[in-house]
Amino acid sequence: MAEMSAVERWLVNSLFRAWLQRREVRAFIRWAELSPDPSVLDMGCGRGVSSKLILEQLRPKRLAAFDFDPSMVELARRRLDDRVDLRVADATKMPYEDDSFDAVFESGVAHHVPDWQAAIREVARVLKPGGRFCFAEPSIGRLRGGMYRILPHAVESMFEVDEWRAALADAGLTLDGTMQRLPLWDICGVATKR
Ligand SMILES: C[S@@+](CC[C@H](N)C(=O)[O-])C[C@H]1O[C@@H](n2cnc3c(N)ncnc32)[C@H](O)[C@@H]1O
Repeated sequence: MAEMSAVERWLVNSLFRAWLQRREVRAFIRWAELSPDPSVLDMGCGRGVSSKLILEQLRPKRLAAFDFDPSMVELARRRLDDRVDLRVADATKMPYEDDSFDAVFESGVAHHVPDWQAAIREVARVLKPGGRFCFAEPSIGRLRGGMYRILPHAVESMFEVDEWRAALADAGLTLDGTMQRLPLWDICGVATKR
């Protein structure tokens, strides 16, 4: 798995990131248009800021969250209570039953996963039919420019928007409308499991 550099870890755990996450979670909730009492999965939850926001803003019936990095899950454990089913797990082998979530949310995780297409297939597997996948990722172009240049990323886990669209379709996820935009990310939107 591609590990975060020290600089990226510092940024991911910064107040600036937490401030942006508030906006992202609000956007995901708006895009997902979920029925009341949804079950939600926070994929690659990092230190748990997004999970806490999901709890506060959406009040889901069930919230599960996982991250590959045990040290991030430990930070999340300190932030969250036992309303969240929190685990160390790999996005390419999720420890959940088929068809178990109404929504999967993820920000900035897939571009760390060398086999990111497998992670998308896992999202499709754990979503219920009609379930919603809300995502926010940087394209190769974005990763090679601006502030991202100080954050080294493994080439094998980078993708462009057309590759992302194709992987969604191959996994049985239909993109709803056009892609959205968020401040850090240029591959953002929602896709529905067929
Ligand atoms: C850039 S951080 C984003 C964290 C958080 N989602 C956020 O928005 O701030 C990427 C996260 O993905 C996690 N990650 C990387 N590979 C993973 C994998 N295969 N499965 C699950 N999480 C993974 C990292 O440990 C890290 O917490």
